[in-house]
Amino acid sequence: MDESSDFVERAKQVLLTNDRGTFTVPAAGLYPHQWLWDSCFIAIGTRHYNIEKAQTEIERLLKGQWANGMLPHMILGTSHITGRNSIWRSWLNPNSPDGVVTSGITQPPVIAEAVVRIGAKMKIPERRSWYQTVFPALVRYHEWLYSERDPHKEGLVLQIHPWETGLDNTPPWMSEIHQHSLPLWINIIEKTHLDVLITPFRRDTHRLPAEQRLNTIEALVLYSTQRRLRRKNYDINRILAHSLFAIEDVSFNSVFVRANTLLREIAKTIRKDLPAELLDNMKKSEEALEQLWYPYSGQYYSRNFVTHKLLKEPTIGTLMPLYAGTITHERAKKLVTMLENENLFGPNYPVPSTAVNSAWFKPTGYWQGPSWVNTNWLIIDGLRRYNFEDHAEALKETTLEMIRSGGFYEYFNPLTGQPAGAPDFSWTAALAIDLSKS
Ligand code: GLC
Repeated sequence: MDESSDFVERAKQVLLTNDRGTFTVPAAGLYPHQWLWDSCFIAIGTRHYNIEKAQTEIERLLKGQWANGMLPHMILGTSHITGRNSIWRSWLNPNSPDGVVTSGITQPPVIAEAVVRIGAKMKIPERRSWYQTVFPALVRYHEWLYSERDPHKEGLVLQIHPWETGLDNTPPWMSEIHQHSLPLWINIIEKTHLDVLITPFRRDTHRLPAEQRLNTIEALVLYSTQRRLRRKNYDINRILAHSLFAIEDVSFNSVFVRANTLLREIAKTIRKDLPAELLDNMKKSEEALEQLWYPYSGQYYSRNFVTHKLLKEPTIGTLMPLYAGTITHERAKKLVTMLENENLFGPNYPVPSTAVNSAWFKPTGYWQGPSWVNTNWLIIDGLRRYNFEDHAEALKETTLEMIRSGGFYEYFNPLTGQPAGAPDFSWTAALAIDLSKS
């Protein structure tokens, strides 16, 4: 067996180990459920050797769809601890599905991408019937994103928890919560340094070194934000009426803009019309993404939904409009320049989740520094679509090199390429397969 097929075989082995029958967990032990964008990336890798398995991964996600159209960011296991007794209690909301325990929030809508990538591996008649099967659910999901998450009809959708961005402790969110929304009890714990007493009770830091996870204050912030949403039964009207904390995340919105383009392609392939209102909204989103551009620094930023203030922290979100694919070539070029700059997004092992020269930057600090394979994959795809072939190729090679020498880890130190986080991480394995074949 040559070196590259051996690498792919090892990646498949990781996915097999994490396979739970109808879905694949992100990593055994640490992440024992199904996650929305993880499964999409997993399917993008799996399609190369088992299309049916890739389809099942997506269909299982659709089983969690809420009556209002939301695709939840997690579908939980059914066992005693992981199921009904989970922190979510999503059945408090009448839209939650029967017989499936889910979270009450969503995650970046990569699902249209996964559907199209799976379709690309099929002959036209099968592709059509695959698209037909999933099309109604995708339309309902995109419509839900507009109806619930764009209440002012601005074209940008808002997120209500950092988990929805998939970039849990990303600096703009952490700093917004700190400034506007930190519960008193967390404030007290932070000021009195009581978090050192809580850290030993965390499940994740038993498995991994503490500096590779969120710090305890950040973990408490995520937890307390989730509790607040639960107290409002995940009802968006109540959430927005009482807590004025919501962000139009640039990364989430970039993924959504791309997903809209792909949904239009799906509709065209099966000769179905998309609802006129949805098409109008899609158009508005492409224009609205440009409102996140800040000309003085030449970067895209997330925005506070209420104040419309741009949250000027240079993070991986800054580059994500490349993936959206609707920005001008001129702006794409500016983003690429940042990728070439070693003090920003171009250290030895890119792409860092937070710019190297940011005060937040920590090389193994989860979404505050490490390079992640899924965001690299999205950026590579964007670079290709803007014809930055050399950059795309270079980023693909460095990504594969990190994985080949370090293993299928959750993320990597962008300065040294050293692996960190959970070993045998599913999307790293799946996207390694996809990148090896692209
Ligand atoms: C963490 C990551 C998120 C991922 C999840 C499961 O919460 O931040 O992006 O989906 O783990 O892997």
